[in-house]
Amino acid sequence: MRPLVFAGNWKMNIGPVEAREYLRAFFSAGEIPRERSVWFFPPAVSIEAVAQGIAGHRNVLVGAQDIYWEPKGAFTGAISGPLATQAGARLTLIGHSERRHVFGETDQETGKKIKAALAADLQPVLCVGETLTQREAGETLAVVTRQLEAAFAGGWGGTKGRVTIAYEPVWAIGTGRNATPKDAADVHRSIRGWLKTHATSAAAFLILYGGSVNLKNAAELLAEPELDGVLVGGASLDPRGWAELVRTAVA
Ligand code: PGA
Repeated sequence: MRPLVFAGNWKMNIGPVEAREYLRAFFSAGEIPRERSVWFFPPAVSIEAVAQGIAGHRNVLVGAQDIYWEPKGAFTGAISGPLATQAGARLTLIGHSERRHVFGETDQETGKKIKAALAADLQPVLCVGETLTQREAGETLAVVTRQLEAAFAGGWGGTKGRVTIAYEPVWAIGTGRNATPKDAADVHRSIRGWLKTHATSAAAFLILYGGSVNLKNAAELLAEPELDGVLVGGASLDPRGWAELVRTAVA
């Protein structure tokens, strides 16, 4: 089996009490195969509960869904990299499409957040992806490249060989529509090419695919060698279904 990452983005679901119950159900559903890593992205209030619940499971990590770029101060409602780290986070999503499209986050802001994540020793998982209008206008690669350039404009300092990109076409998120394995692979190949040319560190890059991934389509997507794993929203909310997806998606 090749190593794969299964990242579950809980979005604004599953508080700390529910998170403890979730993890009990998840771990009782069976062993996670050795080559597979599971990353949970719970809402900020549940990071600590998840960190406690996954302790002792070597291939399971918890991350934040978003961070602000300042380390501390008067920024009501925000959490910083050092605060997320203190709660047990090892990773953070940056530039998720809901941050960009619901909350109006700009490309420049993702750049500040990547820098802040690296400074706080959080592994960033940069989310990129085009809207349907952009795809239909043939702008997919231009959009994704612009998002990559802005996110890493501040350099690669501290990446320590750990850079993860999640390609999530906006039109596939939460819609039940997903890219074909070939569509996803084409964009992944371009992202990998861009990273090879631009990254200054000898980083090992992981590129995940996200957008309506579920138990039914995960195996077909992951059969495509360009995918190093999946970032999953809706289908990660049920602990048993998620455990089954992690264990059974054949690569
Ligand atoms: P979805 O969400 O699997 O519910 O489409 C994916 C994501 O937003 O990361």
